[in-house]
Amino acid sequence: MITLNIEKTFGFVSKENVYGYAAKAKAAREALENGTGKGNDFLGWLHLPSSITKEHLADLKETAKVLRENCDVVVVAGIGGSYLGARAVIEALSNSFEWLLDNKQNPVILFAGNNISEDYLFELTEYVKGKRFGVINISKSGTTTETALAFRLLKKQCEDERGKVLARKVIVAITDAKKGAARVTADKEGYKSYVIPDNVGGRFSVLTPVGLLPIAVAGFDIEKLVAGAAEMEKATGVDVPFEQNIAMQYAAVRNELYRHGKKIEIMANFCPKLHYVSEWWKQLYGESEGKDNLGIYPASVDLTTDLHSMGQWIQEGERSIFETVLSVDKVNHTVEFPFDEENLDGLNFLAGKRVDEVNKMAELGTQLAHVDGGVPNIRVVIPCLNEENIGQLLYFFEVACGISGYILDVNPFNQPGVEAYKKNMFALLNKPGYEAESKAIQARLNG
Ligand code: PA5
Repeated sequence: MITLNIEKTFGFVSKENVYGYAAKAKAAREALENGTGKGNDFLGWLHLPSSITKEHLADLKETAKVLRENCDVVVVAGIGGSYLGARAVIEALSNSFEWLLDNKQNPVILFAGNNISEDYLFELTEYVKGKRFGVINISKSGTTTETALAFRLLKKQCEDERGKVLARKVIVAITDAKKGAARVTADKEGYKSYVIPDNVGGRFSVLTPVGLLPIAVAGFDIEKLVAGAAEMEKATGVDVPFEQNIAMQYAAVRNELYRHGKKIEIMANFCPKLHYVSEWWKQLYGESEGKDNLGIYPASVDLTTDLHSMGQWIQEGERSIFETVLSVDKVNHTVEFPFDEENLDGLNFLAGKRVDEVNKMAELGTQLAHVDGGVPNIRVVIPCLNEENIGQLLYFFEVACGISGYILDVNPFNQPGVEAYKKNMFALLNKPGYEAESKAIQARLNG
């Protein structure tokens, strides 16, 4: 089971004060449970793990099988909550060199629709040219520009190269039940499609088909992932007291640190596979809490890599940060340092040791150094990287985010701020319906 250790924050905030949040955290958890808090029409994720049926998982696995049988490459088009969860899980569980393997067991999973870079799209479409590729088009609104652009290109390429009939088999849509262009296209073309429930917001949707289908296509066991999340759903339930409830504790300690001027939370890992878990977490917490001129700024580093870049700032920069380390207890493989007669590199003191032993000492050494340097430290310990534990981790962060947002007194389930750039972009591109905005923005730019 995933565990949480907040002991190394107690030199900066008092244990008494953190535990003083017990009543508030419980009230926040109850508000989630009873649907009495802000944004209560977006709580469909709360009991998702325990309510996903075997039939639903079987259906997803069947669709994944069709894609796996008919594709060597599957492009997942989506952005934000329609992208990061799948990528986080797939990268956490995949061989780091998966797509370079000669004896590939799984299709190569690529991502698109998460940027508007012409070079990226050129290179992606070049890469899939002539390959047996398919597309999973993910968009809740069904109208997101980044995703829609990529999908239009990929749909055409897939139809042109693989033929309309096969394209219909290897294109899958995950979108709203009724509205949006993605739904209209899926229905018209007769794609296999899945619905993103109305009451599940993008960043909380990893355990819907949004995350589950790409994860299954990549070859991972979605039953175990969901089972792990369900275990965490139980472990962080409304009746689990603060002392045992790691979601309440995490929500409490970060709010107390924030109150003491720790405005930036840095998610750190010592395993590069977790890079996208941090990216997913940044969206989850950033979009949920960053509003009303409030909210911890979620940042991330990959260590020890970034100790050679951001390490200086973390150690001695402005003391407005705290660190949350994703710590993997047991690695999946063994590499021992060999003995070398000549010892030219002076590394014989490590001979016979596991690489992970060195990594663990780097982790401990970093923790001590950062705490000494004034950085409170939280550890989330993952027993090992597998589906069950990643499922636990995802749900832990989701429920803690809901609690934390309510303690902060914001609506953790909306994101009004993300519309501002879109409005300007559409005005600049003269999108029909934006005539007044186009005029106003041109006047502004022309001085
Ligand atoms: O969390 C969110 O709601 C957002 O990040 C969305 O997921 C993102 O903007 C993509 O939206 P959509 O799924 O409608 O294309």
